[in-house]
Amino acid sequence: MRIEELETPAVVVDLDVMERNLHRAGDYIRQHHLQLRPHTKTHKIPAIARMQIEAGAYGVTVAKVGEAEVMAEGGLENILLAYPVFGEGKWDRLAAIARKRSLTVAVDSAATAEGLSASLRRAGAEAGVLVEFDAGMHRCGVQTAEEAAALAVQVDRAPGLRFAGIMFYPGHIWSRPEEQAPALAGVGEQIREIVSAVRAQGLDCAVVSGGSTPTLYQSHQVPGLTEIRPGTYVFNDRNEWGGGFCSLEDCALRVLVTVVSNAVPERAIVDGGSKTFSGDAWISGDRKGYGYIVERPEASLEALTEEHGHLRFPAGAAKPRVGERLSIIPNHVCACVNMHDEIFYHRGGVVEGSWKVAGRGRVR
Ligand SMILES: Cc1ncc(COP(=O)(O)O)c(C=O)c1O
Repeated sequence: MRIEELETPAVVVDLDVMERNLHRAGDYIRQHHLQLRPHTKTHKIPAIARMQIEAGAYGVTVAKVGEAEVMAEGGLENILLAYPVFGEGKWDRLAAIARKRSLTVAVDSAATAEGLSASLRRAGAEAGVLVEFDAGMHRCGVQTAEEAAALAVQVDRAPGLRFAGIMFYPGHIWSRPEEQAPALAGVGEQIREIVSAVRAQGLDCAVVSGGSTPTLYQSHQVPGLTEIRPGTYVFNDRNEWGGGFCSLEDCALRVLVTVVSNAVPERAIVDGGSKTFSGDAWISGDRKGYGYIVERPEASLEALTEEHGHLRFPAGAAKPRVGERLSIIPNHVCACVNMHDEIFYHRGGVVEGSWKVAGRGRVR
């Protein structure tokens, strides 16, 4: 079957492009002696995580306990939960995973470390812990080197916990790759201070985990970094393209839609709206539109209602006929994938199969 025969809306991944993205990241980390633990929130599919491992990753990252369970059931090892998990039920579920798989959890508070420790102790299990610091995004993370060292000591003393290192997420660095050097050097300076404060307490800081897709290929400019966790790089999207972090040819995922109405002047409607694309803005561009229309770049996916994608065409431009198919690169691919049960993969337009988005909806 060819992708043109799929019923729409359908999410399709070009395997050749995705594999090129995976291998490029694999080559990069080997060249710079970094480890790669990609964030699987982008796809939530164990089969893709296994392809990432084959391309050089040494583990996977998740945001939710449910996602960790999906990856563990999918046979993945070395799972990092890079999120401050809170709640006894969740800590117990993590302890159950830790009995079967190597698990590392990020914390930025004593409360989380204590709760996790109690569950692990009850289960007779052990987990690595990374202390998260705030590298400038101001979302999570301890604020000073002293706080990081104090929490590291507390973790080290807690039963079931093994202090493994530190982590941060540079989600605030969205400048063009060639302009990132000062911000990355600043993060390197924070790392230097924190690692030296931790070492002064007699602890080893083996892992320094960071990374994102916008900073992926500049990671070697962060002194002290040992591993990176990009997620979006597997597919890329309009936001990564708009920021100059990839080319359109590197965008592996498209949403196929059909024009279902062109009755209104200068407009047309496609059969995917906010329940197909997600309403994320084009934050790396002029904030207009919800995707890049590959066949009609002059048109804008101007608005989304639940099941209607509203296209606007420039005055005088030819409009597509009803029944015409278009392919659209979404603004934010992670949120888009999370709206679909199944995504299709193809080579050269020939559908080879589909993946179930196994971690979809696993928000607890
Ligand atoms: C903690 C953490 N690590 C890694 C990533 C991956 O970053 P990106 O989406 O830029 O690939 C994210 C993304 O939200 C994140 O929150």
